[in-house]
Amino acid sequence: MKNMNETVLKTEKLTKNFGALKAVNEVDLDIKRGEIRAIIGPNGAGKSTLMDLIVNRTLSSSGKVLLRGQDITHKKPFKIANMGLCKCFQISRLFSGLTCFENVQIALIKKHGKVYCFRPQRPDYLGDEVMELLDSVGISGQAKEKAAFLSYGDQRRLEIAITLALSPQVLFLDEPTAGVARGEGYALMSMVRDLAVKRDMTLLFIEHDMDIVFNYADQISVMEHGRLIATDVPSQIRENEFVKQAYLGGEI
Ligand SMILES: Nc1ncnc2c1ncn2[C@@H]1O[C@H](COP(=O)(O)OP(=O)(O)O)[C@@H](O)[C@H]1O
Ligand SMILES: [Mg+2]
Repeated sequence: MKNMNETVLKTEKLTKNFGALKAVNEVDLDIKRGEIRAIIGPNGAGKSTLMDLIVNRTLSSSGKVLLRGQDITHKKPFKIANMGLCKCFQISRLFSGLTCFENVQIALIKKHGKVYCFRPQRPDYLGDEVMELLDSVGISGQAKEKAAFLSYGDQRRLEIAITLALSPQVLFLDEPTAGVARGEGYALMSMVRDLAVKRDMTLLFIEHDMDIVFNYADQISVMEHGRLIATDVPSQIRENEFVKQAYLGGEI
């Protein structure tokens, strides 16, 4: 069993106003080490904004974010990533004209802080590490393939490998299975769950597919109109009236 006692990530009354709109309204999250936490809620509930506030890609209006007890509210996003809290960016961050190998290699070079030699000195620089990461997401066979030619699902896998290059302790995924076939969505989530266990990672993911949410999450948080209205284990969230009526169409 996982040790679910140690809080790794906490938010205190985290808030974002866009003009008069409270997109995220005094959200208190408490995420334990090793936990797989899903965030659900209708479109526009504030899920993505909440994630972006935590990694400070969107500036918060008020409230606090604590990583392992340390206040990271106003830290720069790259500092937060270096502290082990990383959001996986989807597709847009891939260098589509470069191979899978090169995409991961560049991520590793950045991680090693060699910002002045963005291009590797040798083509196989950090090669073992690169191949290990590609292998861990199941695409080592496509190492020499250009990112642009991968299937959508494999592009997601490559994005995850690039994020893993930063050695995250807490990994954020915003709708990881959106746009991929259901079978591949399940395969992707199983892979992420196995990686979380192997690498001792805590996972926070936004997901609209309720089958995936109820299959993979240890805890589910429900957002509505910027507020966190419930956090509980899947069996309890199934009984939540708001979730049943407004979100799951009255039945699961
Ligand atoms: N940059 C922005 N400027 C103004 N309003 C925004 C901005 N980003 C998001 N919003 C609004 O904040 C609310 C929450 O959006 P979002 O976090 O994307 O919701 P979700 O991810 O749950 O679908 C929505 O009403 C959205 O229109
Ligand atoms: Mg969103």
